[in-house]
Amino acid sequence: MPASSSFDIRRVIRPNILKLEPYRCARDDYSEGILLDANENSYGPAFQAEIGKTASDREEQRISTGADGLSLHRYPDPLGREVKQRVLKLRPSIPSTDNVFLGVGSDEVIDMLVRITCVPGKDAILITPPTYGMYKVVASVNDVDVVKVPLIVEDGAFQLDVDAVIRVAVSNPSIKIIWLCSPGNPTGTYLREEDVRRVLDSQFEGIVVMDEAYVDFVRPERGDSYARLVPEYPGLFVMQTMSKSFGLAGIRLGVGIGSSELVSYLNNAKAPYNVSTLSLNVAMSALSDEGLQKMKYVMDNLRTQRDEYLIPELRRLPHVSAILGGNDANFVLCRFADSNGKTSNEIAKNIYTEMAQNRGLVVRYRGSDYGCEGCLRITVGTPEENKVVISTLRSLLEAIP
Ligand SMILES: Cc1ncc(COP(=O)(O)O)c(C=O)c1O
Repeated sequence: MPASSSFDIRRVIRPNILKLEPYRCARDDYSEGILLDANENSYGPAFQAEIGKTASDREEQRISTGADGLSLHRYPDPLGREVKQRVLKLRPSIPSTDNVFLGVGSDEVIDMLVRITCVPGKDAILITPPTYGMYKVVASVNDVDVVKVPLIVEDGAFQLDVDAVIRVAVSNPSIKIIWLCSPGNPTGTYLREEDVRRVLDSQFEGIVVMDEAYVDFVRPERGDSYARLVPEYPGLFVMQTMSKSFGLAGIRLGVGIGSSELVSYLNNAKAPYNVSTLSLNVAMSALSDEGLQKMKYVMDNLRTQRDEYLIPELRRLPHVSAILGGNDANFVLCRFADSNGKTSNEIAKNIYTEMAQNRGLVVRYRGSDYGCEGCLRITVGTPEENKVVISTLRSLLEAIP
Protein backbone atom coordinates (compact mmCIF):
# COMPACT_ATOMS: atom_id res chain seq x y z
CA MET A 1 0.00 0.00 0.00
CA PRO A 2 1.50 3.38 -0.92
CA ALA A 3 2.60 5.36 2.12
CA SER A 4 0.78 8.42 0.74
CA SER A 5 -2.59 6.90 1.63
CA SER A 6 -1.56 6.12 5.21
CA PHE A 7 0.64 9.15 5.89
CA ASP A 8 -0.23 10.83 9.18
CA ILE A 9 1.53 14.12 9.79
CA ARG A 10 0.72 13.95 13.50
CA ARG A 11 3.09 11.00 13.83
CA VAL A 12 5.95 13.13 12.47
CA ILE A 13 5.52 16.49 14.18
CA ARG A 14 6.95 16.84 17.70
CA PRO A 15 4.29 16.77 20.45
CA ASN A 16 5.26 20.26 21.69
CA ILE A 17 4.78 21.67 18.17
CA LEU A 18 1.44 19.88 17.74
CA LYS A 19 0.09 21.68 20.78
CA LEU A 20 1.95 24.95 20.24
CA GLU A 21 -0.10 28.09 20.57
CA PRO A 22 1.51 30.32 17.95
CA TYR A 23 2.41 33.95 18.50
CA ARG A 24 -0.34 36.17 17.15
CA CYS A 25 -0.17 39.81 16.21
CA ALA A 26 -3.07 42.27 16.04
CA ARG A 27 -2.10 42.79 12.40
CA ASP A 28 -3.33 39.24 11.69
CA ASP A 29 -6.86 40.61 12.23
CA TYR A 30 -6.65 44.36 11.48
CA SER A 31 -4.18 46.01 9.14
CA GLU A 32 -5.75 49.34 8.17
CA GLY A 33 -6.26 52.68 9.89
CA ILE A 34 -4.06 54.31 12.52
CA LEU A 35 -1.74 51.48 13.40
CA LEU A 36 -0.59 51.73 17.01
CA ASP A 37 -0.63 48.03 17.83
CA ALA A 38 2.90 46.80 17.16
CA ASN A 39 5.19 49.39 18.77
CA GLU A 40 6.57 50.43 15.39
CA ASN A 41 7.92 53.94 14.95
CA SER A 42 5.02 56.01 13.60
CA TYR A 43 7.42 58.78 12.56
CA GLY A 44 8.83 56.58 9.82
CA PRO A 45 12.41 55.43 9.21
CA ALA A 46 14.50 57.82 11.29
CA PHE A 47 17.23 58.17 8.67
CA GLN A 48 14.65 59.63 6.31
CA ALA A 49 13.38 62.20 8.84
CA GLU A 50 13.78 65.85 7.94
CA ILE A 51 15.63 67.58 10.76
CA GLY A 52 13.86 70.72 11.93
CA LYS A 53 10.38 69.33 11.42
CA THR A 54 8.25 68.70 14.49
CA ALA A 55 6.03 65.85 15.51
CA SER A 56 3.03 67.73 14.18
CA ASP A 57 4.57 67.50 10.72
CA ARG A 58 4.52 63.77 10.93
CA GLU A 59 1.66 63.28 8.49
CA GLU A 60 3.69 65.14 5.92
CA GLN A 61 6.77 63.13 6.90
CA ARG A 62 4.85 59.93 6.58
CA ILE A 63 3.88 60.86 3.04
CA SER A 64 7.46 61.66 2.16
CA THR A 65 8.82 58.48 3.78
CA GLY A 66 6.21 56.53 1.89
CA ALA A 67 7.75 57.65 -1.37
CA ASP A 68 9.79 54.45 -1.60
CA GLY A 69 6.48 52.61 -1.26
CA LEU A 70 7.95 50.08 1.14
CA SER A 71 6.78 51.44 4.54
CA LEU A 72 9.92 50.16 6.15
CA HIS A 73 8.79 51.41 9.54
CA ARG A 74 6.13 48.69 9.45
CA TYR A 75 6.65 45.00 10.09
CA PRO A 76 6.34 42.88 6.93
CA ASP A 77 3.42 40.59 6.14
CA PRO A 78 4.20 37.60 8.43
CA LEU A 79 3.15 35.18 5.69
CA GLY A 80 4.47 37.00 2.59
CA ARG A 81 1.14 36.32 0.89
CA GLU A 82 1.74 38.34 -2.29
CA VAL A 83 5.06 36.59 -2.94
CA LYS A 84 3.39 33.21 -2.43
CA GLN A 85 0.77 34.11 -5.06
CA ARG A 86 3.62 34.64 -7.49
CA VAL A 87 5.31 31.37 -6.53
CA LEU A 88 2.11 29.67 -7.74
CA LYS A 89 2.71 31.16 -11.18
CA LEU A 90 6.20 29.68 -11.26
CA ARG A 91 5.01 26.23 -10.11
CA PRO A 92 1.44 25.94 -11.41
CA SER A 93 0.93 22.46 -9.95
CA ILE A 94 0.92 23.88 -6.40
CA PRO A 95 -2.74 24.08 -5.30
CA SER A 96 -2.67 27.17 -3.05
CA THR A 97 -0.57 29.68 -1.12
CA ASP A 98 -1.36 27.51 1.94
CA ASN A 99 1.06 24.98 0.44
CA VAL A 100 3.95 27.49 0.40
CA PHE A 101 6.33 28.38 3.23
CA LEU A 102 8.86 31.23 3.08
CA GLY A 103 12.11 31.16 5.04
CA VAL A 104 15.30 33.15 5.38
CA GLY A 105 17.01 31.13 2.66
CA SER A 106 16.60 27.37 2.35
CA ASP A 107 19.02 27.18 5.25
CA GLU A 108 16.31 28.45 7.62
CA VAL A 109 13.79 26.06 6.08
CA ILE A 110 16.18 23.13 6.71
CA ASP A 111 16.54 24.17 10.33
CA MET A 112 12.79 24.66 10.81
CA LEU A 113 12.01 21.22 9.37
CA VAL A 114 14.38 19.53 11.79
CA ARG A 115 13.12 21.57 14.74
CA ILE A 116 9.45 20.76 14.21
CA THR A 117 9.96 17.03 13.59
CA CYS A 118 12.97 15.73 15.52
CA VAL A 119 13.10 15.43 19.30
CA PRO A 120 16.67 16.38 20.36
CA GLY A 121 18.70 13.48 21.70
CA LYS A 122 16.16 10.96 20.36
CA ASP A 123 15.30 11.33 16.68
CA ALA A 124 17.33 11.20 13.46
CA ILE A 125 17.45 12.26 9.83
CA LEU A 126 18.62 10.19 6.87
CA ILE A 127 20.98 11.74 4.31
CA THR A 128 22.50 10.35 1.13
CA PRO A 129 26.18 11.39 0.84
CA PRO A 130 27.74 13.05 -0.99
CA THR A 131 25.29 15.82 -0.25
CA TYR A 132 24.82 19.38 0.99
CA GLY A 133 26.67 19.91 4.28
CA MET A 134 24.01 21.91 6.10
CA TYR A 135 21.71 18.94 6.71
CA LYS A 136 24.36 17.48 9.00
CA VAL A 137 25.23 20.80 10.63
CA VAL A 138 21.58 21.56 11.41
CA ALA A 139 21.14 18.04 12.81
CA SER A 140 24.17 18.51 15.10
CA VAL A 141 22.99 21.91 16.31
CA ASN A 142 19.65 20.36 17.20
CA ASP A 143 21.25 17.26 18.79
CA VAL A 144 19.68 15.01 16.18
CA ASP A 145 21.38 11.87 14.80
CA VAL A 146 22.38 11.52 11.16
CA VAL A 147 21.98 8.16 9.40
CA LYS A 148 23.85 7.88 6.11
CA VAL A 149 22.83 5.83 3.10
CA PRO A 150 25.33 6.78 0.39
CA LEU A 151 24.34 7.37 -3.21
CA ILE A 152 25.43 4.86 -5.84
CA VAL A 153 28.59 6.62 -6.95
CA GLU A 154 30.11 4.16 -9.44
CA ASP A 155 30.90 5.87 -12.74
CA GLY A 156 29.67 9.13 -11.25
CA ALA A 157 26.05 7.90 -11.35
CA PHE A 158 25.09 9.67 -8.10
CA GLN A 159 21.66 8.04 -7.96
CA LEU A 160 19.75 6.74 -4.94
CA ASP A 161 20.40 3.28 -3.54
CA VAL A 162 16.62 2.98 -3.25
CA ASP A 163 16.44 -0.43 -1.59
CA ALA A 164 18.92 0.61 1.08
CA VAL A 165 17.21 3.97 1.72
CA ILE A 166 13.84 2.27 2.20
CA ARG A 167 15.22 -0.59 4.28
CA VAL A 168 17.08 1.71 6.66
CA ALA A 169 14.30 4.31 6.92
CA VAL A 170 11.49 1.83 7.48
CA SER A 171 13.42 -0.19 10.05
CA ASN A 172 14.36 2.82 12.18
CA PRO A 173 11.31 4.68 13.58
CA SER A 174 13.48 7.46 14.99
CA ILE A 175 14.20 8.68 11.43
CA LYS A 176 11.79 11.55 10.85
CA ILE A 177 13.18 12.97 7.60
CA ILE A 178 14.74 11.45 4.48
CA TRP A 179 16.76 14.21 2.90
CA LEU A 180 17.07 14.03 -0.90
CA CYS A 181 18.70 16.62 -3.12
CA SER A 182 17.95 16.92 -6.84
CA PRO A 183 20.02 18.07 -8.59
CA GLY A 184 22.40 17.18 -5.81
CA ASN A 185 25.22 19.26 -4.39
CA PRO A 186 28.04 18.44 -5.10
CA THR A 187 26.80 15.76 -7.53
CA GLY A 188 24.97 18.07 -9.95
CA THR A 189 22.67 15.16 -10.70
CA TYR A 190 18.89 15.04 -11.11
CA LEU A 191 17.39 12.08 -9.23
CA ARG A 192 15.37 9.59 -11.29
CA GLU A 193 11.60 9.89 -10.87
CA GLU A 194 11.01 6.15 -10.54
CA ASP A 195 13.45 6.08 -7.59
CA VAL A 196 11.88 9.09 -5.92
CA ARG A 197 8.42 7.60 -6.31
CA ARG A 198 9.58 4.29 -4.82
CA VAL A 199 10.78 6.11 -1.71
CA LEU A 200 7.51 8.07 -1.52
CA ASP A 201 5.47 4.89 -2.01
CA SER A 202 7.36 3.00 0.70
CA GLN A 203 6.15 2.35 4.23
CA PHE A 204 8.35 5.14 5.62
CA GLU A 205 6.19 7.22 7.95
CA GLY A 206 8.22 10.41 8.06
CA ILE A 207 8.73 13.32 5.68
CA VAL A 208 10.67 13.07 2.42
CA VAL A 209 12.35 16.41 1.78
CA MET A 210 13.46 17.12 -1.76
CA ASP A 211 15.98 19.97 -1.89
CA GLU A 212 15.68 21.54 -5.34
CA ALA A 213 17.97 24.54 -4.93
CA TYR A 214 19.32 23.90 -8.46
CA VAL A 215 16.21 22.62 -10.24
CA ASP A 216 15.95 25.47 -12.76
CA PHE A 217 19.34 24.53 -14.20
CA VAL A 218 18.08 21.11 -15.31
CA ARG A 219 17.65 20.73 -19.08
CA PRO A 220 13.86 20.45 -19.62
CA GLU A 221 14.24 17.10 -21.40
CA ARG A 222 16.04 15.67 -18.31
CA GLY A 223 13.26 16.53 -15.84
CA ASP A 224 11.54 19.22 -13.85
CA SER A 225 10.51 20.11 -10.30
CA TYR A 226 9.07 17.39 -8.07
CA ALA A 227 6.72 20.06 -6.66
CA ARG A 228 4.20 18.53 -9.08
CA LEU A 229 4.11 15.43 -6.82
CA VAL A 230 3.12 17.40 -3.71
CA PRO A 231 -0.66 17.10 -4.30
CA GLU A 232 -0.17 13.32 -4.62
CA TYR A 233 2.11 12.80 -1.61
CA PRO A 234 1.33 14.63 1.67
CA GLY A 235 4.65 13.38 3.06
CA LEU A 236 6.69 15.18 0.39
CA PHE A 237 8.19 18.61 1.06
CA VAL A 238 10.06 20.39 -1.76
CA MET A 239 12.57 23.17 -1.05
CA GLN A 240 13.58 25.81 -3.57
CA THR A 241 15.45 29.10 -3.28
CA MET A 242 15.85 32.52 -4.84
CA SER A 243 19.63 32.18 -4.36
CA LYS A 244 20.56 30.27 -7.51
CA SER A 245 18.54 30.56 -10.74
CA PHE A 246 17.12 33.95 -9.73
CA GLY A 247 20.59 35.22 -8.81
CA LEU A 248 19.36 36.60 -5.46
CA ALA A 249 21.52 34.90 -2.83
CA GLY A 250 21.73 38.26 -1.03
CA ILE A 251 18.02 38.55 -0.25
CA ARG A 252 17.96 35.22 1.65
CA LEU A 253 14.64 33.83 0.52
CA GLY A 254 13.90 30.12 0.56
CA VAL A 255 10.64 28.57 -0.58
CA GLY A 256 9.14 25.38 0.83
CA ILE A 257 6.29 23.53 -0.84
CA GLY A 258 4.25 20.87 0.94
CA SER A 259 0.89 19.89 2.40
CA SER A 260 -1.03 22.78 3.95
CA GLU A 261 -0.88 21.00 7.32
CA LEU A 262 2.90 20.73 7.29
CA VAL A 263 3.19 24.35 6.13
CA SER A 264 0.92 25.46 8.97
CA TYR A 265 3.17 23.78 11.56
CA LEU A 266 6.18 25.54 10.05
CA ASN A 267 4.32 28.87 10.13
CA ASN A 268 3.32 28.35 13.76
CA ALA A 269 6.91 27.68 14.81
CA LYS A 270 8.77 30.37 12.83
CA ALA A 271 9.66 33.86 14.04
CA PRO A 272 6.64 36.04 13.19
CA TYR A 273 8.38 38.38 10.75
CA ASN A 274 11.20 36.18 9.48
CA VAL A 275 11.37 37.48 5.88
CA SER A 276 12.08 41.19 5.52
CA THR A 277 10.07 43.72 3.53
CA LEU A 278 13.14 44.36 1.38
CA SER A 279 13.44 40.67 0.47
CA LEU A 280 9.72 40.31 -0.22
CA ASN A 281 9.81 43.41 -2.40
CA VAL A 282 12.70 42.17 -4.54
CA ALA A 283 11.09 38.72 -4.78
CA MET A 284 7.90 40.34 -6.13
CA SER A 285 9.89 41.76 -9.05
CA ALA A 286 11.84 38.56 -9.60
CA LEU A 287 8.64 36.52 -9.71
CA SER A 288 6.69 38.93 -11.95
CA ASP A 289 5.93 37.77 -15.52
CA GLU A 290 8.89 39.79 -16.76
CA GLY A 291 11.14 38.50 -13.97
CA LEU A 292 10.30 34.88 -14.78
CA GLN A 293 10.90 35.43 -18.48
CA LYS A 294 14.32 36.91 -17.69
CA MET A 295 15.21 34.06 -15.32
CA LYS A 296 14.43 31.56 -18.09
CA TYR A 297 16.57 33.56 -20.52
CA VAL A 298 19.50 33.54 -18.08
CA MET A 299 19.03 29.78 -17.54
CA ASP A 300 19.23 29.15 -21.30
CA ASN A 301 22.45 31.14 -21.54
CA LEU A 302 24.02 29.52 -18.51
CA ARG A 303 23.17 26.00 -19.68
CA THR A 304 24.70 26.77 -23.06
CA GLN A 305 27.92 27.98 -21.40
CA ARG A 306 28.00 24.87 -19.22
CA ASP A 307 27.21 22.32 -21.95
CA GLU A 308 28.83 23.85 -25.01
CA TYR A 309 31.89 25.56 -23.57
CA LEU A 310 32.93 24.73 -20.01
CA ILE A 311 32.41 20.95 -20.03
CA PRO A 312 33.90 20.23 -23.49
CA GLU A 313 36.90 22.49 -22.75
CA LEU A 314 37.50 20.86 -19.35
CA ARG A 315 37.39 17.43 -21.01
CA ARG A 316 40.17 18.48 -23.39
CA LEU A 317 42.58 19.40 -20.57
CA PRO A 318 45.44 17.10 -19.55
CA HIS A 319 44.94 15.30 -16.20
CA VAL A 320 41.17 15.82 -16.31
CA SER A 321 39.96 12.22 -16.16
CA ALA A 322 36.19 12.76 -15.89
CA ILE A 323 33.36 15.18 -15.47
CA LEU A 324 31.16 13.36 -12.99
CA GLY A 325 27.39 13.24 -12.66
CA GLY A 326 24.54 14.54 -14.78
CA ASN A 327 25.69 18.17 -15.02
CA ASP A 328 22.19 19.32 -14.15
CA ALA A 329 23.19 22.26 -11.92
CA ASN A 330 25.21 25.47 -12.29
CA PHE A 331 28.47 23.74 -11.44
CA VAL A 332 30.53 20.83 -12.67
CA LEU A 333 32.39 18.19 -10.73
CA CYS A 334 35.75 17.74 -12.38
CA ARG A 335 38.04 14.79 -11.54
CA PHE A 336 41.83 14.89 -11.89
CA ALA A 337 44.27 12.01 -12.39
CA ASP A 338 48.05 11.63 -12.42
CA SER A 339 49.98 10.67 -15.53
CA ASN A 340 49.26 6.99 -14.84
CA GLY A 341 45.54 7.73 -14.97
CA LYS A 342 45.18 7.26 -11.19
CA THR A 343 42.65 9.59 -9.52
CA SER A 344 44.62 12.14 -7.55
CA ASN A 345 43.43 14.17 -4.56
CA GLU A 346 46.91 15.65 -4.44
CA ILE A 347 46.61 17.21 -7.90
CA ALA A 348 43.10 18.48 -7.17
CA LYS A 349 44.17 20.03 -3.89
CA ASN A 350 47.36 21.59 -5.26
CA ILE A 351 45.48 23.15 -8.15
CA TYR A 352 42.78 24.43 -5.84
CA THR A 353 45.31 26.04 -3.51
CA GLU A 354 47.48 27.51 -6.27
CA MET A 355 44.46 29.02 -8.04
CA ALA A 356 43.03 30.53 -4.84
CA GLN A 357 46.31 31.83 -3.44
CA ASN A 358 48.14 33.00 -6.54
CA ARG A 359 45.72 33.25 -9.45
CA GLY A 360 42.71 34.95 -7.89
CA LEU A 361 40.43 32.09 -8.85
CA VAL A 362 38.41 30.33 -6.17
CA VAL A 363 36.69 26.99 -6.74
CA ARG A 364 35.79 24.27 -4.22
CA TYR A 365 37.87 21.21 -3.30
CA ARG A 366 35.54 18.21 -2.93
CA GLY A 367 38.10 15.38 -2.89
CA SER A 368 37.21 14.26 0.62
CA ASP A 369 33.48 13.83 -0.11
CA TYR A 370 32.28 10.25 -0.62
CA GLY A 371 32.54 9.30 -4.32
CA CYS A 372 34.25 12.59 -5.21
CA GLU A 373 37.92 11.62 -4.88
CA GLY A 374 40.20 13.86 -6.94
CA CYS A 375 37.40 16.36 -7.60
CA LEU A 376 37.02 20.09 -7.74
CA ARG A 377 33.56 21.62 -7.94
CA ILE A 378 33.57 24.54 -10.36
CA THR A 379 30.64 26.95 -10.59
CA VAL A 380 29.65 27.98 -14.12
CA GLY A 381 30.72 31.62 -14.43
CA THR A 382 30.19 34.28 -17.07
CA PRO A 383 31.71 33.51 -20.50
CA GLU A 384 34.76 35.63 -19.57
CA GLU A 385 35.17 33.91 -16.20
CA ASN A 386 34.87 30.47 -17.80
CA LYS A 387 37.64 31.35 -20.26
CA VAL A 388 39.88 32.31 -17.31
CA VAL A 389 39.06 28.99 -15.62
CA ILE A 390 40.10 27.03 -18.70
CA SER A 391 43.27 28.98 -19.44
CA THR A 392 44.39 28.94 -15.77
CA LEU A 393 43.75 25.22 -15.44
CA ARG A 394 45.50 24.54 -18.74
CA SER A 395 48.65 26.38 -17.68
CA LEU A 396 48.77 24.57 -14.32
CA LEU A 397 47.94 21.11 -15.68
CA GLU A 398 50.37 21.29 -18.60
CA ALA A 399 53.15 21.94 -16.08
CA ILE A 400 52.47 18.64 -14.30
CA PRO A 401 54.73 15.90 -15.63
C1 LIG B 1 21.59 21.94 -2.09
C2 LIG B 1 21.51 23.26 -1.43
N1 LIG B 1 20.46 23.53 -0.67
C3 LIG B 1 20.33 24.71 -0.05
C4 LIG B 1 21.30 25.68 -0.17
C5 LIG B 1 21.13 26.97 0.60
O1 LIG B 1 20.37 27.84 -0.11
P1 LIG B 1 19.91 29.23 0.47
O2 LIG B 1 20.81 30.26 -0.10
O3 LIG B 1 18.49 29.37 0.00
O4 LIG B 1 19.99 29.17 1.96
C6 LIG B 1 22.42 25.46 -0.96
C7 LIG B 1 23.45 26.48 -1.10
O5 LIG B 1 24.47 26.35 -1.69
C8 LIG B 1 22.52 24.20 -1.61
O6 LIG B 1 23.59 23.89 -2.36
